[in-house]
Amino acid sequence: MYNGELAWIENALDCLYETGKMGNLHWRATYTEEDQKALKLLEQWMREKDLEVVYDDIGNLFGKIEGEQDRIVLTGSHRDTVKNGGKYDGALGIICAIAAAGSLYAELGKPKRSVEVVAFGEEEGSRFLSGYLGSRYFVGQLSDDILQEQDANGIKLTEAIRQAGFSGKGMQKSPQMQDIERFIELHIEQGGVLEQSGEQVGLVTSIVGLLIGKITIEGHQNHAGTTPMHLRKDPVTRAAQFITEMNQWAMAYGEAVTCTFGEIQVFPNKSNVIAGSVSLSFDIRSTSPAVLQEAQTRIKNLQQQEDGFRYTLEFAAPDAPAQMDEDGLKLLEETAKSLHLSYRKMHSGAGHDAEMLAQKIKTNMIFVPSVGGISHSPLEYSKPDDIGRGYLLLKAFLREIAWS
Ligand code: GLV
Ligand code: MN
Ligand code: MN
Repeated sequence: MYNGELAWIENALDCLYETGKMGNLHWRATYTEEDQKALKLLEQWMREKDLEVVYDDIGNLFGKIEGEQDRIVLTGSHRDTVKNGGKYDGALGIICAIAAAGSLYAELGKPKRSVEVVAFGEEEGSRFLSGYLGSRYFVGQLSDDILQEQDANGIKLTEAIRQAGFSGKGMQKSPQMQDIERFIELHIEQGGVLEQSGEQVGLVTSIVGLLIGKITIEGHQNHAGTTPMHLRKDPVTRAAQFITEMNQWAMAYGEAVTCTFGEIQVFPNKSNVIAGSVSLSFDIRSTSPAVLQEAQTRIKNLQQQEDGFRYTLEFAAPDAPAQMDEDGLKLLEETAKSLHLSYRKMHSGAGHDAEMLAQKIKTNMIFVPSVGGISHSPLEYSKPDDIGRGYLLLKAFLREIAWS
């Protein structure tokens, strides 16, 4: 039985990965053709496992199994990927949830509590600036500002939702929120801690908070050969200086902060032109709200500087650090022990939909080891045996929560 389930999961991972192929690049952004293909497959798998397929108004996909009581146990993850991403981030949590809920239903029949598998949209923020759009909507925190965000082609989030065929109505509130009892998300670890320690699964205790946004620095565009160094207003040099300052600031905190400038755009991006402007993304993470506040102040201070550059700032919607549910964690520990799985209680330096849900409902996460600690890369890989262990833990947890 178990081998069949694992083979199903591995095959589903391969098929879902195919939907994100864009030539040599892999990217499944939400509300795109790639997303539509993925949704078709997920719907098909949900139906095959006798789950009832339902969408909410923003395009989160649910596979429902009605229980004897109204209370709902929710499980799943996000279906989008980062640009040039891998096969497991997000996808694994949805596929394992479909397999676990489907096989428990087949084995045990109607659950006591209803079970819903969710495939959230746009968690990564790889199309629109603020990530976790599906889960933000789900917890009633999709603000008008976020809805006005535009992708790289100038398409507004509201337009993208409608173009993909979702009504976008009732956007501020998810109807069943009050009925959800708890959420459990299985995910790859995305770091190398489990691989190093040799522990088989991770049980998440807390999730990092994020400060994300974009800084645009405008200087004076000019000729690279005729403009003496002391007469330039070169935004590339200014950006480099700021990046270095922020890295030094973060390094002084040791492991408490990460600081990344992963996307830099230079305009007009020509070797013999001193750039007119530079845009840089920032991604700053910490479990301390005070440290995130300090980072925000440092960034805002740019606009106070009288140095001849013009600074424009854009901040994504806030992502506060989150604590996982303690009772759920205890149950996961007991369940892992009963399955003879070694485990590590650990913090998550990656953001997850679980972070949004934890604001409203009891939430927990299971981590599966990532080979080489690599993620957000086409090289992302988790071994079938490791996936199988995480899967069995998810299944046993769901059985305990929803079927007994
Ligand atoms: C989401 O994957 C993030 O941590 O950026
Ligand atoms: Mn993820
Ligand atoms: Mn990710």
